[in-house]
Amino acid sequence: MNVTSKAWVLRGGLVRVPLIQLEQRTSSAVERRPYIWAVASGKGGVGKSFVASNLGMALAKQGKKVVLVDLDLGSANLHTCLGIPSPKTTLSHIIEKNVSNMNDFIVYGHEPNLGLISGASDSLHVANLLHYQKLKIMRNLARIDADYIILDLGAGTNFNTLDFFLFADQGLLVVIPEPTSIENGYRFFKSILTRQLKDLPAKTKKLINQVLTEHKNEKGVARSFAGFLEDMEDLHPAHAHGIHKVLSRFKLNLIVNQVIEPSDTKLGAALSVMFRKYFDTPIYVLGYLYHDSHVLHALRQKQAYYAAFPQSRNATCLERMALEMVEQSASDLVDTVRLES
Ligand SMILES: Nc1ncnc2c1ncn2[C@@H]1O[C@H](COP(=O)(O)OP(=O)(O)O)[C@@H](O)[C@H]1O
Ligand SMILES: [Mg+2]
Repeated sequence: MNVTSKAWVLRGGLVRVPLIQLEQRTSSAVERRPYIWAVASGKGGVGKSFVASNLGMALAKQGKKVVLVDLDLGSANLHTCLGIPSPKTTLSHIIEKNVSNMNDFIVYGHEPNLGLISGASDSLHVANLLHYQKLKIMRNLARIDADYIILDLGAGTNFNTLDFFLFADQGLLVVIPEPTSIENGYRFFKSILTRQLKDLPAKTKKLINQVLTEHKNEKGVARSFAGFLEDMEDLHPAHAHGIHKVLSRFKLNLIVNQVIEPSDTKLGAALSVMFRKYFDTPIYVLGYLYHDSHVLHALRQKQAYYAAFPQSRNATCLERMALEMVEQSASDLVDTVRLES
């Protein structure tokens, strides 16, 4: 399969149909719930909050009701990217108090279709959520009144970040054209795949550990994830089938941010091929965004970049990606209905 194809969007033999038809079919067939996208990166400072906030704005401009949730609890600053003053009600209130309706905590800036649940807090312990607190947030997220929720996650591979990423309907990994970002993006991708395996039956997990321990190359180094999957297929085909099923459930996308050189625009496709080779799992390239000094200008003016520079080439990229997100989400919902019926 071509790695940049959307075969996973069309799993189950679905044929792509015009979006309007998809939306009509989904709205009657399934109970309305927000479709959740999670934005993450292996490395901090690559532009997750920039991407999350501006994709949110581009979706809202298309008439979608969007809520951004700042889950980078240690250094939440999504409100700044939106040009909104630090909100008084934040996730820390939701975590600490007995909140039954997260919708009451949404704050709005200039765009009526775009809400924010801020993570900004000075209370240190909020950065390290306990298991029950994480579950409480997840339960509440699903009840938010919106078409789309975008989760802005902290950098790195801690379990809370991985679990929120996997909780979403689709994940969006942000990388920049720098070796450290690519290396950490690779590590993040591997952690996501490994974390997914925790849901497998105990017998499969035992066999996985066995294969991982025994199957090293001639230098004693563990084989790639794809090599491990190959070994599983040879030795335990039924369990390998279970692994593939779990891995194919989650949809991974990539955005290359801060593109400078023309060759950087091809980085997404190259990474997709590389990830496919090492992990035997597709990753879809949603697009790229240029490095633009106006980003800083907008921040200093306390304005959201997309709103301040609607004619920029990044605005066109954002609009294209937002359209793609809508199309993918609608296809996925129809697909789910089809699988469930
Ligand atoms: N495409 C871009 N062009 C120029 N500056 C950018 C771009 N994307 C992000 N930045 C800047 O890089 C810094 C880090 O971005 P941010 O979104 O806060 O990263 P993260 O959320 O991944 O930590 C910010 O100062 C932001 O304004
Ligand atoms: Mg951030």
